[in-house]
Amino acid sequence: MTAELENDLFLRALLRQPVPRTPVWIMRQAGRYLPEYRAIREQAGDFMSLCGNPELACEVTLQPLRRFKLDAAILFSDILTIPDALGLGLYFETGEGPRFERPVRTARDIDRLAAPDVSAELGYVFDAVALIRRELDGKVPLIGFAGSPWTVGTYMVEGGSSREFPTIKGLAADDPATLEKLLQTVATTTTDYLNAQIESGAQAIMIFDTWGAALEADDYRRFSLAYMQSIVDNLSTEKYGQRIPVILFTKGAGELLSDMAETGCDALGVDWTTSLADARELTNDKVALQGNLDPATLRESPQTIREGVAAVLESYGKGPGHVFNLGHGITPDIDPDHLGACIDAVHELSPRYHQ
Ligand code: CP3
Repeated sequence: MTAELENDLFLRALLRQPVPRTPVWIMRQAGRYLPEYRAIREQAGDFMSLCGNPELACEVTLQPLRRFKLDAAILFSDILTIPDALGLGLYFETGEGPRFERPVRTARDIDRLAAPDVSAELGYVFDAVALIRRELDGKVPLIGFAGSPWTVGTYMVEGGSSREFPTIKGLAADDPATLEKLLQTVATTTTDYLNAQIESGAQAIMIFDTWGAALEADDYRRFSLAYMQSIVDNLSTEKYGQRIPVILFTKGAGELLSDMAETGCDALGVDWTTSLADARELTNDKVALQGNLDPATLRESPQTIREGVAAVLESYGKGPGHVFNLGHGITPDIDPDHLGACIDAVHELSPRYHQ
């Protein structure tokens, strides 16, 4: 189906088509655990300057592919480029994560948000996508991504990272219509943003919903899943006669995976708190599954890592529809050789699940 790609295992697995082995990529595969990433980031000055420079963003996207036998590349960017384009003034405080100069909290703040002209404000991202596609030269597919409106909304309303989400949960309880207006603005902008990534060359799309599971189930459906559904419904997922697969990832989704499988997405990311065997049952083999080794396992010995990989493969079991990944992003403290041991183990141990 994907004649122009040398390695299309990742796209085939997402579409639940047969593959000779389980494809693998790693969330945050370009990042601070790699010394070559730290060197480029230093050269760029700070993280947002790195995202904003298509040549450097392309370079760090390709770095992990030079070291490891990965089956996909992921655009180097961030989920917070959208609120930045909406005028909230994103900055990173060393050691403190992302911050916004102008968080949105009231109906007035939210009314004032104007949907941006995505191609003008976020053109640097689409330039990076096109450049990465050119440099990949058909070796492996490129994943484009965005955050879920709820997850992006938590940063916009709280003004940065949060554990308890007091302000946005307060808004959900006291003035849900205002929150829904915010989420709709983010969803519409995100849809335009992802469609422009597809237009520029992204071959699969992933939506990161890191904080959806902080909501109880009904609120999750109302404030998180509904807006991911709206994005899925409005993506241009057909290009040159080929399907652009869409992956949804709500960290900690658990039993909500069954609701997520009904959205019309192609695949679900699964974190390590749900076994792939249970996820497969919950989703009835309707969608492909991506995951789910505990990132902490990469701190252990190569032998223990290999056993962890074996257990993940065994939990999914036989048949197509599995993409190997961690259950969340790789952390900065990991020895790159340990990730190498993990990826090698997927290559060695997975073929027998595809016979
Ligand atoms: O996966 C990849 O390699 C692609 C790049 C990518 C980044 N962020 C780069 C990044 C992706 C897909 C993201 C998504 C993202 N960003 C999420 C959702 C996924 C998840 O991990 O749950 C969230 C919640 C964010 C918001 C964000 N960006 C935070 C909270 C932070 C700071 C936390 C930290 O690790 O320092 C970032 C910064 C960020 N985004 C870094 C990277 C490599 C670290 C920046 C640095 O170099 O200092």
